[in-house]
Amino acid sequence: MTTSTTTFRSMDESTAEQWAVIGAETFEHQSRVADQVLSMLEGLASITDGFAVDQLMHSLQTATRAEESGADPEMVVASLCHDIGKYVSVPNHPRIAAEILRPYVSEDIVQVILAHQDFQGRHYYHHFGGDRDAREKYRGESWFSLAEQFADEFDQNSFDPDYPTQPLSHFEPLVRDVFAQPRTF
Ligand SMILES: [Fe+2]
Repeated sequence: MTTSTTTFRSMDESTAEQWAVIGAETFEHQSRVADQVLSMLEGLASITDGFAVDQLMHSLQTATRAEESGADPEMVVASLCHDIGKYVSVPNHPRIAAEILRPYVSEDIVQVILAHQDFQGRHYYHHFGGDRDAREKYRGESWFSLAEQFADEFDQNSFDPDYPTQPLSHFEPLVRDVFAQPRTF
């Protein structure tokens, strides 16, 4: 359905009926969110930056370990997407990933992704003169132990070219399910 000839050219002229059409069309096209996420994940295959595996493999391996540990589906998808922000910009990648996930997963999981670098710091910040206990500022948060599990058991060890890692197609149904409907706007 196209509405380009019947809808407004400036919001000042808009009507409730036109907004209803826009709302319905946006809802109808929700599946493009999963399409875009999958496409961005595929794009991570072009980023290696000195690691032993590319960023898609790292993401798949992190999600594989999460799934094998029995993590809930939202956490598996968040594990898959935790570095998706690197597709755009490495320095602020946790915030980009957290905002992509925010409407679709629990607030605790959003916080895990936002803070994941500080939890990873235990495993490498000393090489940069940083604080390996950077995670301590979050102790007491409801999501602290989940973030520890994510960093220590799923993420920091997922640069292994030999680990049996699930392909993206394995996670696609889960991605489509989690991104099928926003919980918040
Ligand atoms: Fe990672």
